[in-house]
Amino acid sequence: MRNDRAFVLVKPDGVQRGLIGTVVSRFESRGLKIVAMRMLRLDREIVERYYAEHVEKDFFEDLVGFITSGPVIAMIVQGPDVVSVVRRMVGTTDSKEASPGTIRGDFGISKQMNIIHASDSPESAEREISILFSDDEIQDFERIDGPWTA
Ligand code: CMP
Repeated sequence: MRNDRAFVLVKPDGVQRGLIGTVVSRFESRGLKIVAMRMLRLDREIVERYYAEHVEKDFFEDLVGFITSGPVIAMIVQGPDVVSVVRRMVGTTDSKEASPGTIRGDFGISKQMNIIHASDSPESAEREISILFSDDEIQDFERIDGPWTA
């Protein structure tokens, strides 16, 4: 599992509150590798593909409105068991219930303004990565520090 990949999105609230660097820094400090990154504005079609499992939910229209309201940062994070490691670092969906020390627990405001989306399984990571990134946009390199080089 040493080269697992997770898809991570810094949502418009994270960008507008100046937290891009903080989020990236947490992953880098943990020894994970950022192997692709892009700033863009999502549109409804992409959001429907990303959140296909939520399209029928009550909150979906609010989610579309929020997530398309400003630029986002899409990235791929790589490392051993990265999906579960990143999910633990991100914290639970509702920021008010997220543990201190997690990204949402330290910076999130609500269930919707929760700073970040991260893949919930290796399968969804690969699906989410393929929506926004082509193979030639993904880099690889070795970290020279720490025990966590992947
Ligand atoms: P995320 O992990 O990106 O996955 C789906 C997103 O929908 C979730 O974070 C929240 O930002 C958003 N959302 C808004 N309302 C709800 C809700 N009631 N339940 C779950 N997710 C919600």
